[in-house]
Amino acid sequence: MAQESIIIVGAGIIGLDVALVLAERGLGPRITVYAEHLPGDTSPNYTSPWAGCNFSGISGSDKNALRWDKLGYAHLMRLASERGREAYVARAHSIEYWDSDAPRDKIRAISEYLEDFRVIPAHELPSGVEYGISATTVTVNAPKHIEYLFRRLRDQHGVRFVRRRLDSIDAAFASPDTKVVFHCSGIAARTLPGVEDGKCFPTRGQVVLVRAPAVKSNVMRHGRGYETYVIPRPHSNGNAILGGYMQKGVFDASTYAQESESIVSRTTGLSRELREGGLEVLAAFAGMRPSREGGARVEREERHGRALVHNYGAGGTGFQAGYGMALDAVAAADDVLRELKGDDGPRSRL
Ligand SMILES: Cc1cc2nc3c(=O)[nH]c(=O)nc-3n(C[C@H](O)[C@H](O)[C@H](O)COP(=O)(O)OP(=O)(O)OC[C@H]3O[C@@H](n4cnc5c(N)ncnc54)[C@H](O)[C@@H]3O)c2cc1C
Ligand SMILES: *[C@@H]1O[C@H](CO)[C@@H](O)[C@H](O)[C@H]1NC(C)=O
Ligand SMILES: *[C@@H]1O[C@H](CO)[C@@H](O)[C@H](O)[C@H]1NC(C)=O
Repeated sequence: MAQESIIIVGAGIIGLDVALVLAERGLGPRITVYAEHLPGDTSPNYTSPWAGCNFSGISGSDKNALRWDKLGYAHLMRLASERGREAYVARAHSIEYWDSDAPRDKIRAISEYLEDFRVIPAHELPSGVEYGISATTVTVNAPKHIEYLFRRLRDQHGVRFVRRRLDSIDAAFASPDTKVVFHCSGIAARTLPGVEDGKCFPTRGQVVLVRAPAVKSNVMRHGRGYETYVIPRPHSNGNAILGGYMQKGVFDASTYAQESESIVSRTTGLSRELREGGLEVLAAFAGMRPSREGGARVEREERHGRALVHNYGAGGTGFQAGYGMALDAVAAADDVLRELKGDDGPRSRL
């Protein structure tokens, strides 16, 4: 069936963004998404619902990361303006602090497009902070945003979603109609037969979900050996995500009271809105960022005489970089997709 011309493996933000870019080219009815987990599910092996989720200068400074950030920022800001409530994306005032080693090149690059960008004068910085910036960025209600993408792709673009765990990446080529497979399995790329990328590793992060209606701004502080942040969660009736941790190589879905206490104490120190407005703890979660030595892999290879486009290893930036990564992944298969477009079956030849 033509619906299997394009297979996407994975329904996290990375696979969904690929489906979105393809659907915007009119290819929705050609796509089947195979995923063990779908939006609405929770599992330690499904990272996307656990993201905070902010736009931050923490992503890499290499050329790809810089481009993906810029494309992702434009995409999310546009969603926030055009259909923020429906897509669970909102513009927000954001502050980012570094105790040391602020990535100056990176900051210079993002300063060119971030709205309301400003370097915070030294006398306004909290004690211990060496450098700080503020800007208007976006916050995303991660679990709701992926459910929005899922509904939009299925109902408006004709994308088919099938809940299925594949035993190997090669299983995605089972149908002879399949011309291209986009591989977006997140942390599973480490173990999935046919991929087994030893550069992949989890980076655990515990976060605390609170009700804190006074919190309107993102605040992040990158310390020596710690990461602290406060992220208002858009269209959530006043919830916020407090964090966090970046524990490289740790895969552990348990949550720890002592980590939650550290998070609450660090974030109330950091955010005046939180301190003065108060908070009620609702839950703690742990998620595993799909990290990769050397950064994300967006790359095409040939398998079974057909195209396999890898798109995984987004680490802590799948929401901010995912749309830009998807544009690259789709561009890598452009020749195949052009042929598909010209091959719409008998109807298009009328
Ligand atoms: C605490 C925390 C905070 C974060 N904050 C941010 C943030 O502020 N901003 C930001 O940009 N990012 C943030 N991230 C990172 C972001 O969540 C990830 O980069 C992103 O979710 C990765 O998406 P993914 O689609 O690659 O993986 P996933 O969401 O894990 O999706 C993988 C998909 O592949 C499927 N799959 C895997 N194996 C198979 C198989 N064998 N067969 C079929 N299907 C399979 C899974 O079922 C799933 O559907 C955060 C992460 C954490 C943990
Ligand atoms: C997560 O994936 C790993 C590797 O495939 C598997 O061994 C483990 O059982 C999964 N955990 C859950 C909770 O599904
Ligand atoms: C938001 O920013 C923090 C701090 O820069 C970063 O660690 C993280 O990956 C981003 N998202 C969340 C919620 O952790």
